[in-house]
Amino acid sequence: MRMILFSSRQYDVDTFNAANAADAAFGFDLHFQESHLDADTAVLARGFDAVCPFVNDTLDAAVLERLREGGTRFIALRSAGFNHVDLAAAARLQLPVARVPAYSPYAVAEHAVGLILALNRRLPRAVARTREGDFSLHGLLGFDLHGKTVGVIGTGMIGRVFGRIMAGFGMRVLAYDPGTPAADLLALGAQYVPLDTLLAESDVVSLHCPLLPSTHHLIDDAAIAKMKRGAMLVNTSRGGLVESNALIGALKSGQLGHLGLDVYEEEGGLFFEDHSNRPLQDDVLARLLMFPNVIVTAHQAFFTREAMDEIARTTLANLAAWRDGEPRNLVQLPA
Ligand code: NAI
Repeated sequence: MRMILFSSRQYDVDTFNAANAADAAFGFDLHFQESHLDADTAVLARGFDAVCPFVNDTLDAAVLERLREGGTRFIALRSAGFNHVDLAAAARLQLPVARVPAYSPYAVAEHAVGLILALNRRLPRAVARTREGDFSLHGLLGFDLHGKTVGVIGTGMIGRVFGRIMAGFGMRVLAYDPGTPAADLLALGAQYVPLDTLLAESDVVSLHCPLLPSTHHLIDDAAIAKMKRGAMLVNTSRGGLVESNALIGALKSGQLGHLGLDVYEEEGGLFFEDHSNRPLQDDVLARLLMFPNVIVTAHQAFFTREAMDEIARTTLANLAAWRDGEPRNLVQLPA
């Protein structure tokens, strides 16, 4: 059975080859393709039973039709998120789509915490300063997380781990999730509140819900206006949850005090690549990168050794399960 992995980098080659060799149930014929998957590159998948895209690949109706024509019968996402797939088109074309529902919620939650600490204590600025022989402290004043309020939007696997860590800092934890409240967070004293209450009372707001039509631009001008003045916003979930244009005005006015982004609305074609020799064409991102109280990382929250190994193992297990007629981890079309 042959599978082509789009947008693959050396770390994908290493982890997938290792996982493929480690389990006798696998032994797949894997091909690694650096190109993104889109309407122009879909032809490269011709003759492959399965296609394995990454988060910024395009899987709209046109691409899925081309894949189907080329003989593809299975889409094995190597991500938890599936907002980049036209699920209705995949269902119409009878192309099952599997994902990796959980690999390491710790990886993403810990990265969100890393952003919070780095923003609060201005670590990038502090490190740059000491490297230059400047050992002054002006401009580096932070605040105790202990005793402050953190708002967790989305308490699924990642949000729960994040909430538990923040409770460990001695923060008051507020949560918003339309689903069932997480028992472990309730046991730690977290309170589920309406979204507006969470925004109004939190010193730090962290996003851990999926990108859906209902959550697109969940954080826009109006939502930011409801936040505490000078609060911190952290997004390690999906760029489209936040209206990027709303951020600049809020940072300039001081309504937003700190911003940590691991994902960005227009990250496709930019993140996961080295663009350092070219002028940045995205004016919004260029402006965001200029603020001293903003940290942007390039969708690296998932990127730990444990998470990468688990992603490779589960993706190949999904392929094996489908091959054996017992598909698992299929993404269902939302009702
Ligand atoms: P999950 O499915 O376990 O949890 C998502 C939670 O969000 C659920 O409890 C759901 O009820 C809740 N939710 C749905 N709509 C909501 C709304 N309107 N407001 C608040 N909550 C809402 O997902 P998991 O594993 O916790 O992942 C969360 C997100 O993290 C993923 O959807 C993905 O976009 C992102 N992610 C980012 C990574 C990165 O490297 N930056 C890596 C992995 C995931």
